[in-house]
Parts: sequence; structure tokens; C-alpha cells
Amino acid sequence: MSAPTMRIGKVLISEADIARRVAELGKTITEQYRGQPLVALAVLKGSFVFAADLLRSIDTPLAVEFIGLRSYIGGRTSTSGVVEITQDVKYPLGGHHVLVVEDIVDTGLTLDYLIKNLATRNPLSIKIAALLHKPARTLKPIPIDYLGFDIPDEFVVGYGLDYDGRYRNLPHIAVLEPNDGQMGLFHSR
Ligand code: PRP
Repeated sequence: MSAPTMRIGKVLISEADIARRVAELGKTITEQYRGQPLVALAVLKGSFVFAADLLRSIDTPLAVEFIGLRSYIGGRTSTSGVVEITQDVKYPLGGHHVLVVEDIVDTGLTLDYLIKNLATRNPLSIKIAALLHKPARTLKPIPIDYLGFDIPDEFVVGYGLDYDGRYRNLPHIAVLEPNDGQMGLFHSR
């Protein structure tokens, strides 16, 4: 069976609502880490937009690092269950607090893997900032220290999130829908 063609549906979270919440998170994170050695670790690719906005709203010195992880491949809309490191951190994390920046926590498999992996690098602490969380899809519960929004079990794109490599540049979070309306064939991220 061929994959359904997709279209952008309703706006789930507007640009203004995202900006407001990101500013709040930035303020909280600033208070938490002021005067502490901090590395913000953005998980590529999806978090690049959220990270760019969040880190500019944090008013304390930090280093920025990137790690490439991938669990959704090609036109799939559900996790493959296998996490792959596509680009590793170059900066030593020992002696620093690590703030992982993610766009979405869905099943939790990606962050479960990453947290265990980072722990072997002896950081002072590991905390999670995630813009979106889909509680209905949890397989591995992840403690999200700084959460933007809980969302329903729908496949979302925009503000860094893609479908098959597209839509990351939308300024808001939108729901992606199959053109034929057959949602039953379609699993969400
Ligand atoms: C997305 C997202 C998270 C992960 C969350 O990444 O950025 O890393 O899925 O899903 P999970 O909680 O079910 O593990 P994706 O694999 O789509 O790669 P991308 O960031 O490059 O788009």
C-alpha cells in the first residue's frame, strides 16, 4: 500500500503562544542555572528552531552543543524504535550541567536512550527542556523539567518538526492530515 499524500491542517499552537511560553521557560531556566557551568545540548534536527529561540531567552552564560539523533525515517510517522546517533557531541560534558533541548517527546525512546548515553559522560546534572509532549504515546516515561505544551495524539509539524524532511520552517505548530482523510492508517509521532 502506498503512503497517503499529506496536507497541513489546523494550527495547534500559534507563533505568539509559542513565543510567550518560550520566554517563560527561558526565565525559569535562567534562574535555575545562574552562575553554574551550563551546556545546552540541542538534539538535531527537530530542536533547531526551539533551541534558537529558547537559548536567546536564557540570560546566563552557556555553551551550545549539538547532537544528531534520528528515530523516524523517510515518510514514516511512527518511531522505528531504533535510535541512531548521526552526529556526536565534540565538547567534554564532565563538570558541566547539561540541558537537553528537544522539540518533542513522543514515545520517550529517543530521550531514554540519550539520557543513558549522556550519563556515561559524567555531567554534573542532566535536565530536559522540550517544547512538546504527547502523553498518550508514552512508552518510556521521561521527566521533562521544562515543558512547553502537552499536546493530543496528532501528527504535528512546524517550528522545527518535519514530515519526510518538510515543514520545519513553519512558524507555528500545525496538524498534518492525510489528503484522503483516512486517519486510521496513520500513526502519530
Ligand atoms: C523526533 C524528535 C525527537 C523524537 C521524539 O526526531 O525530534 O528527537 O522524534 O520521538 P520519541 O519520543 O518517540 O523517541 P526525529 O527522529 O523525527 O528526527 P529529527 O529531529 O531529525 O526530525
